[in-house]
Amino acid sequence: MEIPDRLIAAIRSARHLVVLTGAGASYESGLATFRTPQTGLWERFRAEDLATPAAFQRDPALVWGWYEWRRMHVMRAKPNPAHFAITTLQALVPRLTVITQNVDDLHERAGTHPVIHLHGTLLAPLCERCREPHVLPREIPEEPENGRSVPPPGCGRCGGHIRPGVVWFGEELPRHEWESAVRAAASCDTFLCVGTSSIVQPAASLVERANEAGAVTVQINPNPTGIEGRLSFALSGPAGTLLPEIVRQLQLA
Ligand code: OAD
Repeated sequence: MEIPDRLIAAIRSARHLVVLTGAGASYESGLATFRTPQTGLWERFRAEDLATPAAFQRDPALVWGWYEWRRMHVMRAKPNPAHFAITTLQALVPRLTVITQNVDDLHERAGTHPVIHLHGTLLAPLCERCREPHVLPREIPEEPENGRSVPPPGCGRCGGHIRPGVVWFGEELPRHEWESAVRAAASCDTFLCVGTSSIVQPAASLVERANEAGAVTVQINPNPTGIEGRLSFALSGPAGTLLPEIVRQLQLA
């Protein structure tokens, strides 16, 4: 797909560029999205059984086993050209803020720092009772079967259950991260939504805040999301192709 010249010009003149990523940004690294028909995680598993505080109270081993299975996939995955292109953008604009809904560490492994993790991370579990961080072994976990129960470790301090360091349905987003994301969306001049269905709130409201603040807003997604009519540009295609192409054109003299 052609990248409009007006979009390249907007990014070139941007003083503060924000990139918000979702599961589609990691899809080309082999990680499943949530809502893609047939392969999406929420197409194959019930969020109510796995991603709520009540689910963890009911069956901690089922929930911990499922997140360990996802963590194993993340540890085996590698950043893709979309992640590397975002890292290159850091050097091409005066200020870049990267906000992700993803619980993997592929932006960081591609060299982007810092990254605002709105939904937490699979790689920093903590005690559900006293919030003490839990140090995970460094090696890639043995392949747990999809759906196999694994009892969560006990907290070294208070004996409570260790839980995944992610945000579950019904929980608040981490306050500092959310406030930083809102500040960035309200003060940027260009805002890119990459690989997100723009359904889950409050993350999906960030692009609306950028719109209200007068920023140029852009979506990169091979599929329609329904918000196209409210954006300045909607680019249809995979992030791993379109983002490197944007970077290539920005680098042309
Ligand atoms: P979704 O699964 O809802 O959306 C993924 C989006 O990525 C879809 O719009 C796809 O069309 C798009 N996509 C697929 N392949 C792509 C590619 N190669 N390049 C670009 N885009 C591609 O995932 P999210 O929007 O991230 O929250 O979901 C938001 C939140 O819902 C997640 O963070 C998670 C989930 O419940 C929590 O767990 C709290």
